[in-house]
Amino acid sequence: MFSFFKQDTRAQNSGKAIALMNQKGGVGKTTLAFNLAHSFAKNKRVLCLDMDPQANFSSLFLKKTPEFNIHHLLINSVKELKPLHTQCMLEDVIQKVGDNIDLLPSGQELSGFELTVAGITAPRQLILKRLIEKHELKTKYDVIIIDGPPTLGLLVVNIMCAVDGVLFPFIPDRFSEQGLINMQNVLSDIEDMQICPVPKNLGYVPNLLDSRRKQAVTDMEKMREELKHGVIHSAFTNKVQFGKSLSQGKSVFDYKGADFAQLQEQFKELASSIEKELQ
Ligand SMILES: Nc1ncnc2c1ncn2[C@@H]1O[C@H](COP(=O)(O)OP(=O)(O)O)[C@@H](O)[C@H]1O
Ligand SMILES: [Mg+2]
Repeated sequence: MFSFFKQDTRAQNSGKAIALMNQKGGVGKTTLAFNLAHSFAKNKRVLCLDMDPQANFSSLFLKKTPEFNIHHLLINSVKELKPLHTQCMLEDVIQKVGDNIDLLPSGQELSGFELTVAGITAPRQLILKRLIEKHELKTKYDVIIIDGPPTLGLLVVNIMCAVDGVLFPFIPDRFSEQGLINMQNVLSDIEDMQICPVPKNLGYVPNLLDSRRKQAVTDMEKMREELKHGVIHSAFTNKVQFGKSLSQGKSVFDYKGADFAQLQEQFKELASSIEKELQ
């Protein structure tokens, strides 16, 4: 009876994990994850978790490539892989990178994750979920933001199984459709496997929309029709402000001026919509 009560209280206090996913590269996953993290960090403890072996998310925060990264923690958490374990603890990998923001960086080793865990008998899909649970990261942080890789496969399944909600950035053109369908298929597979709760679809974020191009507007209308089962958030157009801020490792919240203020508003709205969805 007592332990039930305890579990209930913990669930209520629990932070939320969200991922930005699209198997296509260059659609703005990292850019949006970075700025969303800064938006949440205004009043929440945020953990940025980089799950892309290319480590772009990490490099926005760090000048040097760290010795250990999320890959080492994931492998260390699998007992069967003892011969491959390295001498690193969570505290060695996690870094404070801003006010209210910590980072669990990625590294190129993560591209070998799928192969490394191929032969284990423990559930390969739940390695990240269990790592988050073991270290009580949802108690330590209010929001965990995961930047996903531009692939399909075990990393993506691990992310989907570990999060409460998924946000899908995309470029509204006729090539985007298949990428988004493939992501939906991963969610259906997770539902069929019945190994974990299926994360909530937090909606689609059109990015790099060129509303002056007639074809772009037509493509966007078509996508709207196809994605009507989910929320479509307000679109981001091509903004030089992103290039400028990211090249300095800064978020849009670090600048003044009307263009930055408009982007800040847009990120605040997106963050508050995600928060409501996951309440
Ligand atoms: N709305 C935008 N306006 C201008 N540049 C953008 C915008 N969104 C993304 N970019 C730029 O496009 C490139 C790819 O974005 P990125 O976030 O790395 O995509 P992904 O993580 O999906 O591969 C980056 O150089 C980024 O700065
Ligand atoms: Mg990226």
